[in-house]
Amino acid sequence: MTIQTLPTTPFSDQRPGTSGLRKKVTVFAQKHYLENFVQALFDVLPDASGLTLVLGGDGRYYNRVAVQTILRMAAAKGYARVLVGQGGILSTPAVSAVIRANAASGGIVLSASHNPGGPDGDFGIKYNIANGGPAPEKITEAVFARSKELSSIRISDGADVSLDVLGDSTLDGMQVTVIDPVAQYAELMGTLFDFDAIRKLFASGFRLRFDAMNAVGGPYARALLEGTLGAPAGTVVNAVPLEDFGGLHPDPNPVNAEDLIAHMTASDAPDMGAASDGDADRNMVVGRNFVVSPSDSLAVIAAHAKRVPGYAKGLAGVARSMPTSTAVDRVAKALGIPCFETPTGWKFFGNLMDAGRVSLCGEESYGTGSSHVREKDGLWAVLFWLNLLAVTGKSVETLVRELWTEHGRCVYSRHDYEAIPTAQADTLMAGLRAQLPTLAGTTVAGCDIALADDFAYTDPVDGSVSNMQGIRIILTDGSRVVFRLSGTGTEGATLRVYLERHEPDASRHDVEAQAALQPLVALAQTLAHIRDSTGMDQPTVMT
Ligand code: G6P
Ligand code: ZN
Repeated sequence: MTIQTLPTTPFSDQRPGTSGLRKKVTVFAQKHYLENFVQALFDVLPDASGLTLVLGGDGRYYNRVAVQTILRMAAAKGYARVLVGQGGILSTPAVSAVIRANAASGGIVLSASHNPGGPDGDFGIKYNIANGGPAPEKITEAVFARSKELSSIRISDGADVSLDVLGDSTLDGMQVTVIDPVAQYAELMGTLFDFDAIRKLFASGFRLRFDAMNAVGGPYARALLEGTLGAPAGTVVNAVPLEDFGGLHPDPNPVNAEDLIAHMTASDAPDMGAASDGDADRNMVVGRNFVVSPSDSLAVIAAHAKRVPGYAKGLAGVARSMPTSTAVDRVAKALGIPCFETPTGWKFFGNLMDAGRVSLCGEESYGTGSSHVREKDGLWAVLFWLNLLAVTGKSVETLVRELWTEHGRCVYSRHDYEAIPTAQADTLMAGLRAQLPTLAGTTVAGCDIALADDFAYTDPVDGSVSNMQGIRIILTDGSRVVFRLSGTGTEGATLRVYLERHEPDASRHDVEAQAALQPLVALAQTLAHIRDSTGMDQPTVMT
Protein backbone atom coordinates (compact mmCIF):
# COMPACT_ATOMS: atom_id res chain seq x y z
CA MET A 1 0.00 0.00 0.00
CA THR A 2 1.37 3.39 -0.95
CA ILE A 3 0.13 6.92 -1.27
CA GLN A 4 -0.17 7.98 -4.90
CA THR A 5 -0.04 11.49 -6.27
CA LEU A 6 -2.19 11.66 -9.41
CA PRO A 7 -2.47 14.57 -11.81
CA THR A 8 -5.90 16.17 -12.10
CA THR A 9 -7.64 19.07 -13.83
CA PRO A 10 -9.86 21.45 -11.85
CA PHE A 11 -13.65 21.70 -12.19
CA SER A 12 -15.10 25.19 -12.17
CA ASP A 13 -18.42 24.34 -10.47
CA GLN A 14 -17.47 23.05 -7.02
CA ARG A 15 -18.81 25.92 -4.95
CA PRO A 16 -20.71 24.55 -1.92
CA GLY A 17 -24.27 25.91 -1.57
CA THR A 18 -26.59 26.27 1.43
CA SER A 19 -25.54 22.84 2.62
CA GLY A 20 -22.43 21.52 0.89
CA LEU A 21 -21.78 20.52 -2.70
CA ARG A 22 -24.82 18.96 -4.36
CA LYS A 23 -24.87 17.68 -7.91
CA LYS A 24 -26.37 14.93 -9.98
CA VAL A 25 -24.79 11.52 -9.43
CA THR A 26 -23.73 11.68 -13.09
CA VAL A 27 -21.68 14.78 -12.29
CA PHE A 28 -20.06 13.17 -9.25
CA ALA A 29 -19.29 10.06 -11.28
CA GLN A 30 -17.00 12.01 -13.63
CA LYS A 31 -13.36 11.09 -13.26
CA HIS A 32 -11.87 12.78 -10.17
CA TYR A 33 -14.94 14.97 -9.54
CA LEU A 34 -15.37 13.73 -5.96
CA GLU A 35 -11.61 13.34 -5.50
CA ASN A 36 -10.96 16.95 -6.52
CA PHE A 37 -13.48 18.31 -4.05
CA VAL A 38 -12.14 16.18 -1.22
CA GLN A 39 -8.58 17.18 -2.09
CA ALA A 40 -9.55 20.86 -2.09
CA LEU A 41 -11.11 20.35 1.35
CA PHE A 42 -8.09 18.48 2.71
CA ASP A 43 -5.75 21.15 1.31
CA VAL A 44 -7.65 23.83 3.20
CA LEU A 45 -7.70 21.89 6.49
CA PRO A 46 -4.64 21.88 8.76
CA ASP A 47 -2.29 18.93 9.17
CA ALA A 48 -4.31 15.84 10.18
CA SER A 49 -1.73 13.85 12.12
CA GLY A 50 -3.20 12.62 15.39
CA LEU A 51 -6.70 13.71 14.33
CA THR A 52 -9.96 11.76 14.00
CA LEU A 53 -12.43 12.21 11.14
CA VAL A 54 -16.04 10.98 11.14
CA LEU A 55 -17.48 9.68 7.87
CA GLY A 56 -20.92 8.51 6.84
CA GLY A 57 -23.86 9.23 4.62
CA ASP A 58 -27.54 8.66 4.08
CA GLY A 59 -26.99 5.47 2.10
CA ARG A 60 -28.14 6.88 -1.20
CA TYR A 61 -26.75 5.66 -4.52
CA TYR A 62 -22.98 6.33 -4.75
CA ASN A 63 -22.59 6.42 -0.94
CA ARG A 64 -20.46 3.29 -0.75
CA VAL A 65 -18.21 4.24 -3.65
CA ALA A 66 -17.66 7.69 -2.15
CA VAL A 67 -16.91 6.29 1.32
CA GLN A 68 -14.14 4.06 -0.05
CA THR A 69 -12.61 6.92 -2.05
CA ILE A 70 -12.69 9.27 0.91
CA LEU A 71 -11.14 6.66 3.21
CA ARG A 72 -8.22 6.30 0.79
CA MET A 73 -7.80 10.07 0.58
CA ALA A 74 -8.06 10.46 4.35
CA ALA A 75 -5.20 7.99 4.70
CA ALA A 76 -3.17 10.10 2.27
CA LYS A 77 -4.03 13.23 4.23
CA GLY A 78 -2.60 11.53 7.30
CA TYR A 79 -5.58 11.20 9.63
CA ALA A 80 -4.84 8.98 12.62
CA ARG A 81 -8.32 7.51 12.60
CA VAL A 82 -11.61 7.55 10.75
CA LEU A 83 -14.87 6.58 12.44
CA VAL A 84 -17.20 5.35 9.74
CA GLY A 85 -20.81 4.24 10.19
CA GLN A 86 -21.53 0.58 9.49
CA GLY A 87 -22.39 0.15 5.82
CA GLY A 88 -21.20 3.72 5.30
CA ILE A 89 -24.40 4.90 7.02
CA LEU A 90 -24.75 7.83 9.41
CA SER A 91 -27.62 10.28 9.54
CA THR A 92 -26.61 13.94 9.48
CA PRO A 93 -27.50 14.54 13.15
CA ALA A 94 -25.67 11.33 14.06
CA VAL A 95 -22.50 12.59 12.34
CA SER A 96 -22.78 15.69 14.47
CA ALA A 97 -23.30 13.66 17.65
CA VAL A 98 -20.41 11.30 16.86
CA ILE A 99 -18.01 14.18 16.12
CA ARG A 100 -18.84 15.72 19.48
CA ALA A 101 -18.84 12.50 21.50
CA ASN A 102 -15.40 11.49 20.20
CA ALA A 103 -13.74 14.91 20.07
CA ALA A 104 -13.14 14.39 16.35
CA SER A 105 -11.63 17.24 14.34
CA GLY A 106 -14.54 17.12 11.91
CA GLY A 107 -16.66 14.92 9.72
CA ILE A 108 -17.76 14.36 6.16
CA VAL A 109 -21.47 13.88 5.48
CA LEU A 110 -22.48 12.24 2.22
CA SER A 111 -25.99 13.30 1.40
CA ALA A 112 -28.11 15.46 -0.81
CA SER A 113 -30.57 15.66 2.06
CA HIS A 114 -34.15 15.65 0.78
CA ASN A 115 -33.23 15.61 -2.91
CA PRO A 116 -34.19 12.41 -4.78
CA GLY A 117 -31.51 9.72 -5.13
CA GLY A 118 -30.57 6.92 -7.50
CA PRO A 119 -28.35 6.83 -10.60
CA ASP A 120 -30.24 9.79 -12.07
CA GLY A 121 -30.76 11.49 -8.73
CA ASP A 122 -28.59 13.71 -6.59
CA PHE A 123 -25.54 13.19 -4.44
CA GLY A 124 -23.83 15.56 -2.05
CA ILE A 125 -20.88 16.06 0.23
CA LYS A 126 -20.46 18.42 3.14
CA TYR A 127 -17.79 19.03 5.76
CA ASN A 128 -18.62 19.55 9.42
CA ILE A 129 -16.18 21.10 11.87
CA ALA A 130 -15.16 20.06 15.38
CA ASN A 131 -18.28 21.51 17.02
CA GLY A 132 -20.28 19.03 14.91
CA GLY A 133 -21.81 21.69 12.68
CA PRO A 134 -21.54 22.56 8.99
CA ALA A 135 -18.36 24.40 8.06
CA PRO A 136 -18.80 28.17 8.01
CA GLU A 137 -18.62 30.11 4.75
CA LYS A 138 -14.99 31.06 5.42
CA ILE A 139 -14.07 27.38 4.97
CA THR A 140 -16.49 26.54 2.15
CA GLU A 141 -15.31 29.53 0.13
CA ALA A 142 -11.67 28.56 0.69
CA VAL A 143 -12.46 25.04 -0.54
CA PHE A 144 -14.10 26.47 -3.66
CA ALA A 145 -11.08 28.70 -4.32
CA ARG A 146 -8.72 25.75 -3.88
CA SER A 147 -10.85 23.52 -6.14
CA LYS A 148 -10.22 25.91 -9.04
CA GLU A 149 -6.45 25.61 -8.88
CA LEU A 150 -5.88 21.93 -8.09
CA SER A 151 -3.30 20.06 -10.12
CA SER A 152 -3.04 16.79 -8.22
CA ILE A 153 -4.81 14.53 -5.78
CA ARG A 154 -3.29 12.29 -3.13
CA ILE A 155 -4.82 8.88 -2.54
CA SER A 156 -3.88 5.50 -1.10
CA ASP A 157 -3.94 2.55 -3.47
CA GLY A 158 -5.07 0.25 -0.63
CA ALA A 159 -7.94 -2.20 -1.04
CA ASP A 160 -11.56 -1.45 -0.10
CA VAL A 161 -12.25 -1.46 3.63
CA SER A 162 -14.96 -3.83 4.83
CA LEU A 163 -17.77 -1.54 6.00
CA ASP A 164 -20.21 -4.16 7.17
CA VAL A 165 -18.44 -5.58 10.23
CA LEU A 166 -18.04 -3.46 13.35
CA GLY A 167 -14.47 -2.95 14.50
CA ASP A 168 -11.01 -1.80 13.46
CA SER A 169 -8.81 -2.22 10.43
CA THR A 170 -5.89 -0.29 8.99
CA LEU A 171 -5.49 1.52 5.71
CA ASP A 172 -2.03 2.80 4.87
CA GLY A 173 -1.25 3.44 8.54
CA MET A 174 -4.65 4.99 9.30
CA GLN A 175 -7.02 3.26 11.71
CA VAL A 176 -10.53 2.72 10.34
CA THR A 177 -13.19 2.01 12.97
CA VAL A 178 -16.60 0.86 11.74
CA ILE A 179 -19.13 2.01 14.36
CA ASP A 180 -22.77 1.26 15.08
CA PRO A 181 -24.51 4.23 13.38
CA VAL A 182 -27.26 4.44 16.00
CA ALA A 183 -25.67 3.78 19.42
CA GLN A 184 -24.07 7.12 20.34
CA TYR A 185 -26.98 9.09 18.94
CA ALA A 186 -29.52 7.00 20.85
CA GLU A 187 -27.55 7.44 24.05
CA LEU A 188 -27.62 11.22 23.61
CA MET A 189 -31.41 11.18 23.14
CA GLY A 190 -31.73 9.31 26.42
CA THR A 191 -30.05 12.20 28.25
CA LEU A 192 -32.56 14.76 26.88
CA PHE A 193 -36.01 13.20 27.06
CA ASP A 194 -38.24 11.58 29.65
CA PHE A 195 -38.18 8.12 28.13
CA ASP A 196 -40.30 6.68 30.96
CA ALA A 197 -43.09 9.13 30.22
CA ILE A 198 -42.95 8.33 26.49
CA ARG A 199 -42.92 4.60 27.26
CA LYS A 200 -46.06 5.03 29.34
CA LEU A 201 -47.67 7.01 26.54
CA PHE A 202 -47.14 4.16 24.09
CA ALA A 203 -48.18 1.59 26.69
CA SER A 204 -51.47 3.45 27.12
CA GLY A 205 -52.33 2.81 23.47
CA PHE A 206 -51.09 6.07 21.92
CA ARG A 207 -50.50 5.52 18.21
CA LEU A 208 -47.74 7.13 16.15
CA ARG A 209 -47.02 6.68 12.46
CA PHE A 210 -43.43 7.59 11.65
CA ASP A 211 -42.68 7.61 7.92
CA ALA A 212 -38.92 7.34 7.35
CA MET A 213 -39.48 7.73 3.60
CA ASN A 214 -37.13 4.79 2.76
CA ALA A 215 -34.27 6.91 4.04
CA VAL A 216 -31.65 6.85 6.75
CA GLY A 217 -33.99 7.88 9.58
CA GLY A 218 -35.50 4.38 9.54
CA PRO A 219 -32.91 2.51 11.60
CA TYR A 220 -32.73 5.32 14.17
CA ALA A 221 -36.50 5.61 14.53
CA ARG A 222 -36.94 1.84 14.77
CA ALA A 223 -34.26 1.46 17.42
CA LEU A 224 -35.57 4.28 19.58
CA LEU A 225 -39.33 4.20 19.04
CA GLU A 226 -40.03 0.50 18.56
CA GLY A 227 -37.01 -0.65 20.58
CA THR A 228 -36.24 1.58 23.56
CA LEU A 229 -39.65 3.23 23.86
CA GLY A 230 -41.87 0.22 23.25
CA ALA A 231 -43.98 1.55 20.37
CA PRO A 232 -45.71 -1.30 18.55
CA ALA A 233 -43.88 -2.92 15.63
CA GLY A 234 -44.97 -1.20 12.44
CA THR A 235 -45.00 2.27 14.03
CA VAL A 236 -42.09 3.16 11.76
CA VAL A 237 -42.94 2.65 8.10
CA ASN A 238 -40.69 2.86 5.04
CA ALA A 239 -37.96 2.11 7.56
CA VAL A 240 -35.30 0.49 5.39
CA PRO A 241 -32.91 2.96 3.71
CA LEU A 242 -32.93 2.38 -0.05
CA GLU A 243 -30.38 3.74 -2.52
CA ASP A 244 -33.11 5.51 -4.49
CA PHE A 245 -35.52 6.00 -1.56
CA GLY A 246 -37.87 3.64 -3.39
CA GLY A 247 -38.48 6.42 -5.90
CA LEU A 248 -39.87 8.70 -3.16
CA HIS A 249 -38.85 12.32 -2.89
CA PRO A 250 -37.69 12.06 0.72
CA ASP A 251 -38.75 15.53 1.80
CA PRO A 252 -41.14 15.57 4.73
CA ASN A 253 -43.75 18.09 3.70
CA PRO A 254 -47.44 17.56 3.01
CA VAL A 255 -46.82 17.37 -0.73
CA ASN A 256 -44.07 14.74 -0.76
CA ALA A 257 -45.28 12.81 2.29
CA GLU A 258 -48.76 12.48 0.85
CA ASP A 259 -49.14 8.90 2.05
CA LEU A 260 -48.62 10.02 5.65
CA ILE A 261 -51.13 12.84 5.20
CA ALA A 262 -53.64 10.33 3.79
CA HIS A 263 -53.23 8.19 6.93
CA MET A 264 -53.56 11.21 9.19
CA THR A 265 -56.80 12.30 7.57
CA ALA A 266 -58.39 8.83 7.56
CA SER A 267 -61.17 7.99 10.03
CA ASP A 268 -58.87 5.68 12.00
CA ALA A 269 -55.92 8.10 11.97
CA PRO A 270 -53.22 7.58 14.58
CA ASP A 271 -52.70 10.21 17.31
CA MET A 272 -49.60 11.64 15.71
CA GLY A 273 -47.80 11.38 12.40
CA ALA A 274 -44.21 12.25 11.66
CA ALA A 275 -41.71 12.00 8.85
CA SER A 276 -38.03 12.65 8.31
CA ASP A 277 -36.02 13.32 5.17
CA GLY A 278 -33.20 11.65 3.22
CA ASP A 279 -30.53 12.27 5.87
CA ALA A 280 -32.94 12.45 8.85
CA ASP A 281 -32.29 16.03 9.86
CA ARG A 282 -35.67 17.39 8.75
CA ASN A 283 -38.99 16.56 10.34
CA MET A 284 -42.67 17.06 9.85
CA VAL A 285 -45.17 16.68 12.67
CA VAL A 286 -48.83 16.01 11.94
CA GLY A 287 -51.78 15.70 14.27
CA ARG A 288 -55.05 13.94 13.47
CA ASN A 289 -56.26 15.77 10.41
CA PHE A 290 -54.00 18.65 11.39
CA VAL A 291 -50.69 19.60 9.77
CA VAL A 292 -48.25 21.51 11.98
CA SER A 293 -46.19 24.13 10.17
CA PRO A 294 -42.47 23.97 10.96
CA SER A 295 -42.55 27.52 12.28
CA ASP A 296 -45.39 26.65 14.68
CA SER A 297 -43.61 23.46 15.72
CA LEU A 298 -40.55 25.49 16.73
CA ALA A 299 -42.73 27.91 18.68
CA VAL A 300 -44.58 25.12 20.54
CA ILE A 301 -41.30 23.42 21.43
CA ALA A 302 -39.89 26.72 22.70
CA ALA A 303 -43.01 27.51 24.72
CA HIS A 304 -43.00 24.16 26.55
CA ALA A 305 -39.27 23.41 26.62
CA LYS A 306 -39.06 23.50 30.41
CA ARG A 307 -41.28 20.41 30.59
CA VAL A 308 -38.58 18.31 28.94
CA PRO A 309 -35.68 17.14 31.16
CA GLY A 310 -32.83 18.28 28.88
CA TYR A 311 -34.28 21.80 28.80
CA ALA A 312 -35.73 22.03 32.31
CA LYS A 313 -33.47 24.94 33.22
CA GLY A 314 -34.99 27.02 30.44
CA LEU A 315 -33.64 28.21 27.13
CA ALA A 316 -30.72 30.65 26.76
CA GLY A 317 -32.32 31.98 23.61
CA VAL A 318 -33.81 30.88 20.32
CA ALA A 319 -32.96 31.49 16.68
CA ARG A 320 -34.81 31.16 13.41
CA SER A 321 -33.86 31.75 9.80
CA MET A 322 -35.15 35.02 8.40
CA PRO A 323 -37.92 33.52 6.22
CA THR A 324 -39.24 31.40 9.13
CA SER A 325 -42.41 32.83 10.68
CA THR A 326 -42.25 35.10 13.70
CA ALA A 327 -44.27 32.71 15.90
CA VAL A 328 -41.17 31.83 17.91
CA ASP A 329 -40.29 35.53 18.33
CA ARG A 330 -43.59 36.00 20.15
CA VAL A 331 -42.94 33.02 22.42
CA ALA A 332 -39.41 34.25 23.13
CA LYS A 333 -40.75 37.67 24.05
CA ALA A 334 -43.22 36.13 26.49
CA LEU A 335 -40.44 33.99 27.99
CA GLY A 336 -38.13 37.01 28.21
CA ILE A 337 -35.35 35.36 26.18
CA PRO A 338 -33.52 36.64 23.09
CA CYS A 339 -34.54 35.59 19.59
CA PHE A 340 -32.01 35.81 16.74
CA GLU A 341 -32.83 36.09 13.04
CA THR A 342 -30.21 34.50 10.77
CA PRO A 343 -29.91 33.80 7.04
CA THR A 344 -31.18 30.48 5.67
CA GLY A 345 -28.79 27.63 6.39
CA TRP A 346 -28.17 25.71 9.58
CA LYS A 347 -24.51 26.78 9.57
CA PHE A 348 -25.53 30.24 10.77
CA PHE A 349 -26.78 28.83 14.09
CA GLY A 350 -23.44 27.25 15.03
CA ASN A 351 -21.72 30.31 16.46
CA LEU A 352 -24.78 31.27 18.50
CA MET A 353 -25.00 27.79 19.99
CA ASP A 354 -21.25 27.55 20.64
CA ALA A 355 -21.38 30.89 22.44
CA GLY A 356 -24.26 29.62 24.60
CA ARG A 357 -26.59 32.32 23.34
CA VAL A 358 -29.27 30.03 21.94
CA SER A 359 -30.47 26.57 22.89
CA LEU A 360 -33.12 26.06 20.22
CA CYS A 361 -33.17 26.80 16.49
CA GLY A 362 -35.52 26.23 13.62
CA GLU A 363 -36.30 26.90 9.99
CA GLU A 364 -39.42 26.97 7.87
CA SER A 365 -37.83 24.26 5.72
CA TYR A 366 -38.84 21.56 8.23
CA GLY A 367 -35.67 21.85 10.32
CA THR A 368 -35.73 22.00 14.10
CA GLY A 369 -32.95 21.33 16.56
CA SER A 370 -31.07 22.33 19.65
CA SER A 371 -27.57 22.68 20.99
CA HIS A 372 -27.39 18.92 21.76
CA VAL A 373 -25.73 18.70 18.31
CA ARG A 374 -24.92 21.28 15.64
CA GLU A 375 -27.31 20.02 12.97
CA LYS A 376 -31.05 20.06 12.80
CA ASP A 377 -32.44 16.77 14.01
CA GLY A 378 -35.62 15.13 12.76
CA LEU A 379 -36.03 12.33 15.29
CA TRP A 380 -35.11 14.67 18.15
CA ALA A 381 -38.03 16.92 17.17
CA VAL A 382 -40.40 13.95 17.10
CA LEU A 383 -39.19 12.80 20.52
CA PHE A 384 -39.67 16.35 21.81
CA TRP A 385 -43.29 16.33 20.67
CA LEU A 386 -43.87 12.85 22.13
CA ASN A 387 -42.41 14.03 25.44
CA LEU A 388 -44.72 17.07 25.42
CA LEU A 389 -47.79 14.98 24.55
CA ALA A 390 -46.88 12.53 27.31
CA VAL A 391 -46.47 15.11 30.07
CA THR A 392 -49.32 17.45 29.06
CA GLY A 393 -51.83 14.76 28.06
CA LYS A 394 -52.86 17.07 25.21
CA SER A 395 -53.12 16.40 21.49
CA VAL A 396 -50.88 17.80 18.77
CA GLU A 397 -53.70 20.03 17.58
CA THR A 398 -54.47 21.35 21.08
CA LEU A 399 -50.86 22.38 21.68
CA VAL A 400 -50.81 24.32 18.41
CA ARG A 401 -54.20 25.92 19.00
CA GLU A 402 -53.12 27.02 22.46
CA LEU A 403 -50.11 28.71 20.85
CA TRP A 404 -52.42 30.56 18.45
CA THR A 405 -54.78 31.58 21.23
CA GLU A 406 -51.97 33.04 23.27
CA HIS A 407 -49.92 34.71 20.54
CA GLY A 408 -52.17 34.90 17.51
CA ARG A 409 -51.65 32.68 14.48
CA CYS A 410 -48.76 33.38 12.11
CA VAL A 411 -50.46 32.18 8.95
CA TYR A 412 -47.65 30.95 6.75
CA SER A 413 -46.90 29.39 3.41
CA ARG A 414 -43.97 28.95 1.06
CA HIS A 415 -44.46 28.91 -2.69
CA ASP A 416 -41.68 27.34 -4.74
CA TYR A 417 -41.17 27.81 -8.46
CA GLU A 418 -38.75 25.06 -9.42
CA ALA A 419 -36.35 24.54 -12.32
CA ILE A 420 -36.51 28.07 -13.69
CA PRO A 421 -33.68 28.79 -16.15
CA THR A 422 -30.99 30.44 -14.02
CA ALA A 423 -30.76 33.57 -16.16
CA GLN A 424 -34.51 34.21 -15.82
CA ALA A 425 -34.38 33.78 -12.06
CA ASP A 426 -31.43 36.14 -11.78
CA THR A 427 -33.27 38.74 -13.86
CA LEU A 428 -36.33 38.43 -11.63
CA MET A 429 -34.27 38.94 -8.49
CA ALA A 430 -32.38 41.86 -10.05
CA GLY A 431 -35.72 43.42 -10.98
CA LEU A 432 -36.86 43.16 -7.36
CA ARG A 433 -33.60 44.56 -6.04
CA ALA A 434 -33.89 47.54 -8.35
CA GLN A 435 -37.25 48.45 -6.79
CA LEU A 436 -36.11 48.24 -3.18
CA PRO A 437 -34.97 51.83 -2.62
CA THR A 438 -38.37 53.30 -3.48
CA LEU A 439 -40.86 50.84 -1.99
CA ALA A 440 -41.00 51.80 1.69
CA GLY A 441 -43.93 54.11 2.42
CA THR A 442 -45.82 53.18 -0.76
CA THR A 443 -48.96 51.07 -1.29
CA VAL A 444 -48.66 48.24 -3.81
CA ALA A 445 -51.55 45.92 -4.70
CA GLY A 446 -53.41 47.31 -1.71
CA CYS A 447 -50.55 46.53 0.72
CA ASP A 448 -48.87 49.28 2.76
CA ILE A 449 -45.14 48.66 2.65
CA ALA A 450 -43.15 49.67 5.73
CA LEU A 451 -39.74 48.25 4.80
CA ALA A 452 -38.13 46.72 1.74
CA ASP A 453 -34.56 45.49 1.84
CA ASP A 454 -32.11 42.74 1.01
CA PHE A 455 -31.47 40.89 4.25
CA ALA A 456 -27.92 41.22 5.55
CA TYR A 457 -26.65 39.46 8.66
CA THR A 458 -23.83 40.36 10.94
CA ASP A 459 -22.91 37.39 13.07
CA PRO A 460 -23.11 38.66 16.66
CA VAL A 461 -20.33 36.29 17.74
CA ASP A 462 -17.58 36.71 15.13
CA GLY A 463 -18.77 39.84 13.33
CA SER A 464 -18.75 38.18 9.89
CA VAL A 465 -21.20 39.72 7.43
CA SER A 466 -23.41 37.83 4.94
CA ASN A 467 -25.11 40.03 2.35
CA MET A 468 -27.94 39.42 -0.12
CA GLN A 469 -29.68 36.75 1.94
CA GLY A 470 -33.20 37.35 0.65
CA ILE A 471 -35.47 40.22 -0.30
CA ARG A 472 -37.87 41.24 2.45
CA ILE A 473 -41.03 43.22 1.92
CA ILE A 474 -42.52 44.02 5.33
CA LEU A 475 -45.95 45.63 5.59
CA THR A 476 -47.13 48.10 8.20
CA ASP A 477 -49.12 45.32 9.95
CA GLY A 478 -46.02 43.12 10.17
CA SER A 479 -47.04 40.82 7.27
CA ARG A 480 -44.08 39.76 5.16
CA VAL A 481 -43.24 38.54 1.69
CA VAL A 482 -39.72 37.22 1.27
CA PHE A 483 -38.06 36.25 -2.02
CA ARG A 484 -34.96 34.05 -2.25
CA LEU A 485 -33.33 31.70 -4.68
CA SER A 486 -32.73 28.26 -3.21
CA GLY A 487 -29.12 27.28 -2.57
CA THR A 488 -29.74 23.54 -2.52
CA GLY A 489 -31.18 22.71 -5.94
CA THR A 490 -29.30 20.99 -8.74
CA GLU A 491 -31.45 21.91 -11.73
CA GLY A 492 -31.78 25.51 -12.83
CA ALA A 493 -32.97 27.86 -10.11
CA THR A 494 -35.77 27.58 -7.58
CA LEU A 495 -37.54 30.76 -6.55
CA ARG A 496 -38.93 30.62 -3.04
CA VAL A 497 -41.64 33.07 -2.05
CA TYR A 498 -42.34 33.04 1.69
CA LEU A 499 -45.63 34.51 2.89
CA GLU A 500 -46.54 35.39 6.47
CA ARG A 501 -49.52 37.16 8.02
CA HIS A 502 -50.28 37.51 11.70
CA GLU A 503 -53.89 36.80 12.63
CA PRO A 504 -54.72 37.82 16.21
CA ASP A 505 -58.47 37.16 15.81
CA ALA A 506 -59.20 33.64 17.10
CA SER A 507 -62.43 33.46 15.11
CA ARG A 508 -60.30 33.61 11.95
CA HIS A 509 -57.70 31.03 12.89
CA ASP A 510 -59.37 28.40 10.76
CA VAL A 511 -59.40 30.37 7.53
CA GLU A 512 -57.49 28.27 5.04
CA ALA A 513 -53.87 29.50 4.86
CA GLN A 514 -53.74 30.02 1.09
CA ALA A 515 -56.96 32.04 1.19
CA ALA A 516 -55.75 34.15 4.12
CA LEU A 517 -52.49 34.86 2.29
CA GLN A 518 -54.08 35.80 -1.04
CA PRO A 519 -53.36 39.57 -0.74
CA LEU A 520 -49.68 38.78 -0.20
CA VAL A 521 -49.63 36.45 -3.21
CA ALA A 522 -51.03 39.30 -5.29
CA LEU A 523 -48.35 41.62 -3.92
CA ALA A 524 -45.63 39.11 -4.81
CA GLN A 525 -46.96 38.85 -8.38
CA THR A 526 -47.11 42.62 -8.79
CA LEU A 527 -43.58 43.16 -7.53
CA ALA A 528 -41.84 40.18 -9.11
CA HIS A 529 -43.95 39.52 -12.24
CA ILE A 530 -43.43 35.84 -11.55
CA ARG A 531 -45.90 34.70 -14.19
CA ASP A 532 -44.39 36.84 -16.93
CA SER A 533 -40.78 36.16 -16.14
CA THR A 534 -41.05 32.41 -15.54
CA GLY A 535 -44.02 31.44 -17.67
CA MET A 536 -45.32 29.54 -14.62
CA ASP A 537 -48.91 30.14 -13.61
CA GLN A 538 -48.71 28.35 -10.30
CA PRO A 539 -45.97 27.41 -7.87
CA THR A 540 -44.66 23.86 -8.32
CA VAL A 541 -44.85 23.24 -4.57
CA MET A 542 -46.73 24.99 -1.79
CA THR A 543 -45.92 24.11 1.80
C1 G6P B 1 -31.04 22.62 3.89
C2 G6P B 1 -30.32 23.45 4.91
C3 G6P B 1 -31.29 24.36 5.59
C4 G6P B 1 -32.04 25.20 4.59
C5 G6P B 1 -32.68 24.34 3.55
C6 G6P B 1 -33.30 25.14 2.41
O1 G6P B 1 -31.93 21.77 4.52
O2 G6P B 1 -29.68 22.63 5.86
O3 G6P B 1 -30.60 25.14 6.51
O4 G6P B 1 -33.03 25.92 5.24
O5 G6P B 1 -31.75 23.46 3.00
O6 G6P B 1 -32.31 25.82 1.75
P1 G6P B 1 -32.60 26.52 0.35
O7 G6P B 1 -31.38 27.33 0.08
O8 G6P B 1 -32.88 25.43 -0.65
O9 G6P B 1 -33.84 27.36 0.58
ZN1 ZN C 1 -31.78 16.85 5.24
